[in-house]
Parts: sequence; C-alpha cells; structure tokens
Amino acid sequence: METILLVAGDGIGPEIMEQAKRILGCFQKNMPLELIEKPIGGAAIDAYGNPFPQETDQVARAAKAVLLGAVGGPKWDALPLAQRPEKGLLGIRKALGLYANLRPLTIWPQLANFSPLKPEILENVSFTVVRELTGDLYFGEPRGLENKDGQRTAFNTMTYSETEIRRIAITAFDLARKGRKKVCSVDKANVLETMRLWREIVEEVHRDYSDVELSHMHVDNAAMQIVRQPSSFDVMLTPNMFGDILSDEAAVLSGSLGLLPSASVGGTSALYEPIHGSAPDIAGKDIANPIGMMLCVAMMMESSFNKPECAALIRQSVSDVLDSGMRTTDIWSSGTDKVSTDSMGKAVERRISSLL
Ligand code: IPM
Ligand code: MG
Repeated sequence: METILLVAGDGIGPEIMEQAKRILGCFQKNMPLELIEKPIGGAAIDAYGNPFPQETDQVARAAKAVLLGAVGGPKWDALPLAQRPEKGLLGIRKALGLYANLRPLTIWPQLANFSPLKPEILENVSFTVVRELTGDLYFGEPRGLENKDGQRTAFNTMTYSETEIRRIAITAFDLARKGRKKVCSVDKANVLETMRLWREIVEEVHRDYSDVELSHMHVDNAAMQIVRQPSSFDVMLTPNMFGDILSDEAAVLSGSLGLLPSASVGGTSALYEPIHGSAPDIAGKDIANPIGMMLCVAMMMESSFNKPECAALIRQSVSDVLDSGMRTTDIWSSGTDKVSTDSMGKAVERRISSLL
C-alpha cells in the first residue's frame, strides 16, 4: 500500500483537491493507494496555531507523494512572516529536501485564443522551468528588520553554495537530455557574486553533458524573451527567486494560471502542486479551474508511481473534455459551455473511467 498525503490548504485549495481525489479514485481500483488528509497553511494555523504542524510533517516524510492545493489568504495577512500560511509551504519543501521544482508549460490548442500572445509566437512553445526551491533569498541568513541610524532597515541574504547549484544544474541537464537537449540558465552574473558562482558551476556541470546545448541569459532578458520568442526555450534553469517570477510569466502564455501543474523533487518523497495561488477572491464559489490540479496527479503518476500510461490517460481526458467545449470561468468565451469546478472534475473523471 502506497500513501499519498493530501494537503488542501486554503482558498480554492479544498475545492480543487476534491477534483484531484476524483482522478485518484479512478486508479484506486487497480492500485493500492491510501489517501491521508492533513492541514497546512492558514487552515493549519486555525486548527493548530502552526502553518506546518508536526503531524503533517510526520505523514509527509512517510508518504510516497504529497499533493498540495494552495496556501494563504487575507485572513492571515496581518501575521508576522514566520507565522504566515506561506511558511507552511516553505516548511514542507525544506523538510522534504525538495530542491528542484519542475514547472512544465503546455499550450493547449483549444485555449490558444486565451493567450495574451499572438498565435504565431505561440507556435511550438513547450518548455519547463526548473526552479531551485530550497535556497536563495527565500532561505538565506541573516535576514530581518532592524533599527539602523534611526530608521527601519530590512535585509535578506541571497546565498548559494556550489553543492546547491550543482544538484539543480544536474536536474536540468538530465531533463534536457530527455527532450530537445537545450538548457538556458538564468542568472544576473553581471551584478551579483551569487550569480557569478551560479554560472561558473553550471558550466562545470555542463562538461559532463556535451550532448546538451547550454546558454546563459540574464534574468531581465529572459523575462523579455519569454514573451518575444518563447519557442526558443526547452529547459529554463533558474534560481529560486527568479524562477518564482518567470514561471508565473510563462504560465500565463497558456491562457490561464489555472492550467499549470508542478512537481517538487529531490528528496525522499515528492510534492505536487498547481502553480496558481489560493485565489481567495473566488474561493468557495465552485468556479476555480481544477485542470492544473488534475495535471498534478498526472505528474505524480508518472514520476512517483512510474505509471506514464495513467498520466497519458489523464492528459488525454482533459484534452477530450476541452474538445467537448466545457470551460471553467477563467477560460470561458462565448460559444463554449461554462461549467463549475465540480462539473469539470466530474467530466474528466467520467472520461478517464470510459477509457480505462
Ligand atoms: C509559488 C508560490 C510560493 C513561492 C509562495 C506561496 C510562498 O508563489 O509556489 O510559486 O513563492 O514559492
Ligand atoms: Mg509563485
């Protein structure tokens, strides 16, 4: 029996998690899967006064994989940084040693009209952001707020060790080898020491991957090329902070932030989460897009359970449901059929069952 920890979190997290459970249910007949639910983020603050309770931590460490909805919301905005819902997400990433976050961008032809980019720029676009996830400004010490020369002064530390850079570079090159064999490493080596070391180590690792083409790009240029020439990218390797920003930019090319899954790997178990946030403004309305979340289950089947055929089935079923004209609000346009979160989940579940 393999265990999957479900941490729905806040905002739209619980609604989309329900749809992920439908998808997992389709496979449970043939796979012995135990699903355990625990709180994280704001929900855990409310229940235990801690965004990453020990109980959640323990089950996460023992689980084969973790599926996460989203964390955060205005209710917890006034809390100090160390007690916010986001700390739960950062805590679980760090606790499980998940240093690599894979964010693949797929353009669904059925939704191309939702992209802010012209159709000709979207042709042949398919790339993966490989984001370092447990270092950089997010975790660097020292950090804080102090009184200096009579005024409040805040500081964070951007830091990377060669070990941290080397292992994420290896992840990126290994992934590129399975695809179009191109890595574009993003940095700011013209200004920051941390990023000079980043570039140096990426070049060192590249010596073992002479079959993969490596290029370097400053982050400001990368932000521009994502909208100018996105088809030029295959694997985009980024530090934590730059990857957070660039992956949101990349996601919107697909038409909606609600469509993109991600996998965080490198530790003993893996964590899968859609890249969108908790969207408190639409929470509880049954209108959120569950596709990103359902595609997380596909990534999980592929990477954690070695079941690429299940992953393909999920992706095919999502595509078929889109072909049938069903759309959640974020991807609705006249002539298509506006449906709720739950109806979209049920439609994909039905399609999978009919193909199984
Ligand atoms: C993401 C999110 C998180 C991050 C937040 C919620 C802490 O934006 O997964 O991209 O910054 O990593
Ligand atoms: Mg983000």
